[in-house]
Amino acid sequence: MTRGHSTTPPGVRGVLIGCGFFAENQLHAWQALPGVEIVAVCDRDPARLAQVRERFGIDEGHTDAGRLLASCRPDFVDIAAPTPAHAELVELAACAGADIICQKPFAGSPAAARALIETCRHHGVSLSIHENFRWQHAIRRVIDTLRQGAIGRPFFGRISYRSGFDVYRAQPYLARAERFIIEDLGIHLLDVARALFGEVDRLGCEITRVNPDIRGEDVATMMLHHDSEVTTLVDCSYATRLAEDPFPQSLIEIDGSHGSLRLAPDYRLTRHDAAGGQDTREVAPTPPAWSTAPWTPIQESVSAFQADWLDARRGGRPVETRGEDNYNTLALVEAAYRAAADHGTVTPERWPPA
Ligand SMILES: NC(=O)c1ccc[n+]([C@@H]2O[C@H](COP(=O)([O-])OP(=O)(O)OC[C@H]3O[C@@H](n4cnc5c(N)ncnc54)[C@H](O)[C@@H]3O)[C@@H](O)[C@H]2O)c1
Repeated sequence: MTRGHSTTPPGVRGVLIGCGFFAENQLHAWQALPGVEIVAVCDRDPARLAQVRERFGIDEGHTDAGRLLASCRPDFVDIAAPTPAHAELVELAACAGADIICQKPFAGSPAAARALIETCRHHGVSLSIHENFRWQHAIRRVIDTLRQGAIGRPFFGRISYRSGFDVYRAQPYLARAERFIIEDLGIHLLDVARALFGEVDRLGCEITRVNPDIRGEDVATMMLHHDSEVTTLVDCSYATRLAEDPFPQSLIEIDGSHGSLRLAPDYRLTRHDAAGGQDTREVAPTPPAWSTAPWTPIQESVSAFQADWLDARRGGRPVETRGEDNYNTLALVEAAYRAAADHGTVTPERWPPA
């Protein structure tokens, strides 16, 4: 190595738009990741902007995304603003030639997502969706174990998230949303189902609202049939009262031709084999220094997602949850609401759209 030459790759300069509840996790994770610098933030609420700038020591801040992009010319834009803002912000960032990471639920519908995917392609910028559940440590271990063939060919899965946690306190907009649990939470579980078993060719769904003080559904039960012939139950509830609430954990059961996997609430992943044996591993997340209970598994997955995004960027490979891939998760959300309305079975759309 020549003296005086660093082997550290040049840092990637990013900006973050939308400084709300979840953005703080993204900012903490970026600040802990070597090789990335968030050079400016943007929120149209000046008080919120000032709070976040001070908390994270970020010198530059704007209330207007257009001004932010003109001033900073960033390598990438991390959009943590809610869905109604996605179209405008993605278009601005793509026109500025910046790579884009955008929060879920992306764009609001598969049709709107398609238009934005095409905009990004046109401007030659990458589009990644911040879909972090498949990056939770415990869930990733299930994905890896299954992909290694540890239980043979899977034929049944259950991805379950049942809690009575008061999510409305930190995210009051969830109580007002016409579509709630599938679009906000089920979307993550549907994405995990795709990561585990591949694309879905049929989907049925039933929903209900238990909490009288909210607008949308807080309970959903979905049945998916995958191209791979796996049948998956995806069930979620924010109306489940339990003495020991597993919030915010997702529990997973998979049956395969040569064994089964069970991910339990205590972060124990058990593999049962065909001879009646079993082995159990602990798959608890390692809490980032900045994490706060009970959010640890989610916060850790934000770090894992962002680290993979950076690694993919450096390696010139696409991330798993690029826009085109996430289109198929969004299509499952759409299919679930249609199936619930009709009490029928729906064939979800798929990328590339017809
Ligand atoms: N991946 C996850 O696990 C996870 C968890 C929670 C929330 N989310 C998602 O993150 C997004 C934000 O959720 P939140 O709970 O942080 O919401 P929030 O309401 O707390 O914050 C959103 C912020 O965006 C700002 N904003 C809105 N439009 C803007 C615009 N055009 N320009 C600049 N700023 C704008 C608002 O002023 C607000 O401060 C949502 O899409 C939500 O679904 C993801």
